[in-house]
Amino acid sequence: MSMRKRTVVLISGRGSNMTALIAAASNPDYPAEIVGVISDRANAAGLGIAAARGIATKVISRADYSSKEAHDGAIDAALVLFGAEIVALAGYMRILGARFVEKWLGRMINIHPALLPAFKGLDTHARAIRAGIRIHGCTVHFVTLDMDDGPIIAQAAVPVMVGDNEDMLAARVLKAEHRLYPLALGLVAEGKARMEGGRTVLAHFADDADNSTSVVMAPDPLREETDLEHLARITP
Ligand code: GRF
Repeated sequence: MSMRKRTVVLISGRGSNMTALIAAASNPDYPAEIVGVISDRANAAGLGIAAARGIATKVISRADYSSKEAHDGAIDAALVLFGAEIVALAGYMRILGARFVEKWLGRMINIHPALLPAFKGLDTHARAIRAGIRIHGCTVHFVTLDMDDGPIIAQAAVPVMVGDNEDMLAARVLKAEHRLYPLALGLVAEGKARMEGGRTVLAHFADDADNSTSVVMAPDPLREETDLEHLARITP
């Protein structure tokens, strides 16, 4: 039997992060396989992309259920049918209820387009530009009861360039998201990033008591890609 972790991706729209996860998992050496995609919106563009890549898809619309709990329950049932071991939220635009979150605690991850804990919620790029920050980015974290609040697994930093508008910044962050999410899912699938006692424990640092729960990861490929000299010039 395959040791790859069975992963289901939850989407609501475009699905570009989902596509990045599917692409990573198309390598048989990748520690997770994408066994299904669930969308709460029938018109999510990501559904067609997943189907074209031979991934099973399922639409579970909120409108078809009498309560939020019943909707969550239907998603949970679908996850069980898929044999899901990991749930990856990728632009899933609903807040999942406490019961659902508790059931999947430590096995459900999300990508957020900001360096948490800054800019939780929506419109992160516009808010980042308004705040005048010079370093922005994205975060993959375990999902806990509070929105965008769970233990951080990995982060990628992205410069805010002079003259950036929201779309330009969003596009730059999205490129980083597409590299960060496969990296982070891989860490979780391999058991190298685990949620323990409300913190992320990274296996690589597990025998270092001081660092084991507080490391912020900047994956090597991203570090190489960032032009640090340029970054230094625009970050006085
Ligand atoms: C991404 O920016 C992700 O970080 C956020 O929602 C957006 C989804 O985009 N949670 P996509 O559907 O993955 O293209």
